[in-house]
Amino acid sequence: MPGIVVVGAQWGDEGKGKATDQLGDRVDYTVRYSGGNNAGHTLVVNGEKYALHLLPSGILNDSVPVIANGVVIDLDVLFEEIDGLNARGVDTSKLLVSANAHVIAPYHKVMDKVTERFLGNRRIGTTGRGIGPAYSDKINRLGIRVQDLFDDSILRQKVEAALEQKNHLLVKVYNRRAIDATEVAEELLAHTERLRPMVADTVRVLNTALDAGQVVLFEGAQAHHLDVDHGTYPYVTSSNPIAGGASTGAGVGPTRIDRVIGIMKAYTTRVGEGPFPTELLDADGEKLRQDGAEFGTTTGRNRRCGWFDALVVEAAVTANAFTDMFLTKLDILTGWEKIPVCVAYEVNGERTTTLPMTQTDFHHAVPVYEYLDGWTEDISGCREFSDLPKNTQAYVRRLEELVRCRISGIGVGPSREQAVMLHDLL
Ligand code: GDP
Ligand code: IMO
Ligand code: MG
Repeated sequence: MPGIVVVGAQWGDEGKGKATDQLGDRVDYTVRYSGGNNAGHTLVVNGEKYALHLLPSGILNDSVPVIANGVVIDLDVLFEEIDGLNARGVDTSKLLVSANAHVIAPYHKVMDKVTERFLGNRRIGTTGRGIGPAYSDKINRLGIRVQDLFDDSILRQKVEAALEQKNHLLVKVYNRRAIDATEVAEELLAHTERLRPMVADTVRVLNTALDAGQVVLFEGAQAHHLDVDHGTYPYVTSSNPIAGGASTGAGVGPTRIDRVIGIMKAYTTRVGEGPFPTELLDADGEKLRQDGAEFGTTTGRNRRCGWFDALVVEAAVTANAFTDMFLTKLDILTGWEKIPVCVAYEVNGERTTTLPMTQTDFHHAVPVYEYLDGWTEDISGCREFSDLPKNTQAYVRRLEELVRCRISGIGVGPSREQAVMLHDLL
């Protein structure tokens, strides 16, 4: 079972880091294939909490961590994260970084912030990490790649080219100071020697590992509904976090992927702007936020909270062809008498059980709820499905039916061992 992809099935923060870590020591390579340090993956290992933004969760187990070509890398953040882990005794020496990955330059972060401000109430609510501008430059063929740091004069030319138009925009439209190309180039080049030993032809490394039958786990960041093609555009990120993104983002053919695991939270959360039909703006939403500690790992923003939306997850099941689902944070739902689950929408007086095709209809969707019986027992110590209260089991089975994919693992707490496995994921 060598190629496995983990993908968020909602709007991010489903617990992908923990689910990835769960597969742990049986994995040979753990690969980030999209996004950048807009991600925040929290893991609790032996009582220690780790928040990873750029490094794959495999950095905490014995697998080889890989940052593949599809990722955009803020080098300051990369080295800060490495230093932070080293200071806690974590070995990061096996990390590999693709020569083709793009670099987030200081001007990308500036552009992210000024464009958001300029959008006013049409803003996306980005993480401000320069993700969108870095991917825009990549698509515009104005990007800086990791390998450009190895050629001083090429790097300087590329930074100049990237800044030419941006400086006009910054000065004439956004009323900001121009950015000096030499300063940017020097800042990037300062990282070259530290980066050099990590840089590899990761496409070859990963395909050779797959040829040898080794287990390669592609750890998704963001989520299906934040995907630039499949998400709630324009309230999305600028990459393809979906399962297919692992193919382009790491250079492995689709036939290499044997298993696709969707991660879904037992309720729904979202950070930033954009439609969210089951959002709760009342005391129930606040209770979910407090019980689930739904505050962003990356920006510290409150996560918007709402009930489980089966239509949202079912759309992700369809486009990603998930083979398995991992249901997280089921323990957070303990204590509700009835738990609403969205099973359909009313859109302009018509009922639908699949996600509307257009954004306008999605904005007008009114959730139709089914009310499942809750439970009061503490489930955080359960390790077998049969240990779970009957109503909890019924909740799991109903979600499974609604999203049309089997649930193979359940998270009942933040720690590595707090899980119930129904089917082996490897
Ligand atoms: P990711 O971005 O998908 O990796 O998710 P985040 O790390 O941003 O958010 C998930 C949060 O929930 C983290 O703080 C995890 O430690 C925590 N978590 C993950 N799974 C569970 C679970 O099953 N139960 C509880 N109570 N917390 C969990
Ligand atoms: P993980 O991997 C939740 C959201 C931002 C914003 C939109 C675009 O932890 O699940 P960007 O900075 O990417 O241009 O912002 O996407 N966003 C996330 N929300 N979890 C994430 O990552 C996210 N990464 C980006 O809040 O709405
Ligand atoms: Mg997160």
